[in-house]
Order: sequence, then structure tokens, then C-alpha cells
Amino acid sequence: MSLAALAAVGLFMPFSNLFLHRPEPLQVEGSDEFKKVSLVLQQKCADCHTPNRTAYPVYTSLPIANRVIETDIEEAQKHIIFSDDMLRGKTPITAIDKAKIQSAFLDGGMPPLKYLALHWDARITRADKEAILTWLQSEKPLQLDTAGNQEQIH
Ligand code: HEC
Repeated sequence: MSLAALAAVGLFMPFSNLFLHRPEPLQVEGSDEFKKVSLVLQQKCADCHTPNRTAYPVYTSLPIANRVIETDIEEAQKHIIFSDDMLRGKTPITAIDKAKIQSAFLDGGMPPLKYLALHWDARITRADKEAILTWLQSEKPLQLDTAGNQEQIH
């Protein structure tokens, strides 16, 4: 392949992702603060961390791409799953998951670099960071009950 052809393919991949067909956004319950965070999770994290909400790129069917994508999704969901009900605000997000999400947003480790190289609109922005901090501050403090379950103080 000529260099020009390689460059064309290399640019086509991220460019095509700017027009990805995403699943319908989920209807979110709860505070405005949470709605903002849920939207970011749906747009920038769900591809790997939410079962059945991957917006597959057009190049998914290429052999190597296919393996990389499937491995990423599998690995991601072994670590943490943002279920539809969590994203909808129906299942409360545990304190541990909140802490993990916060550090993922603030430390810059997520989304992974190889994903960002191909998804130019998935970088965590300053506004996203503000959204996560505002949400966490707006939540009532959590207390452990005797059984060790989390309960909100009313
Ligand atoms: C390209 C797929 C991909 C995307 C998109 C992605 N992740 Fe991940 N994520 C992974 C993989 C793979 C791992 C496990 C390996 C690692 O930690 O790097 C992971 C691990 C994590 C963990 C670590 C969980 C633990 O065990 O401590 C958190 C938290 C996380 N991701 C949050 C996010 C958030 C928040 C976003 C969106 C801003 C996001 N991820 C986007 C692939 C992805």
C-alpha cells in the first residue's frame, strides 16, 4: 500500500467514528447533577463498560480491529460495569464505584489512549470533571448500616 493510501485508511477510522450511530440515550431519573454524569458515561464509557450499548465502529469487521475491540470490552466489564439501570438512576451507584468513577475521570486513565486516538470526541473535558465533582458533592453522605450495606441518611 502506498503511504497516501495508508494515511487515508488511518484517517478514515477516527473520522468515521465522529458519525457513529449510538443507541438512543437512556431516560435518566434523579438529580440534574447525576443526569450530566450519566450522559458522559453513556457517551464516553458505555462502548466498553455497558453490556449491549457498544456503538461499533464501521471497521469492526476487520480481523485485527475486531479482536482488539472484543478484548477491550471483555476486560473492561470484568473490572466495572455501568449497567443500564445504573445509568438510568434506578440502581444507586455504590460508594466504591463512585470513587472508581471519580478517579477514572480525574486521573485521565479513562477512556484508554488507544480508544481516544480513534474517538476524538471521547476525551474527558474540564466540564465533565466539574460535573462529576458537583454530582458527588450533591449526594447525601453515605452511612453503613449494621449489615454493612450502604444507606442514605435522610
Ligand atoms: C476502549 C474501552 C474503554 C472505554 C471507552 C472506557 N474504559 Fe474503563 N476500562 C477499560 C479496560 C480495558 C479496563 C481494565 C484495564 C484497565 O484498568 O486499564 C478499564 C477499567 C476501568 C476502571 C477500573 C475499575 C477497577 O477495577 O478499579 C474504571 C473505574 C473505568 N474503567 C472507568 C471508565 C470510565 C469512567 C470511562 C469513561 C470516561 C471508561 N472507563 C471508558 C476499557 C474502557
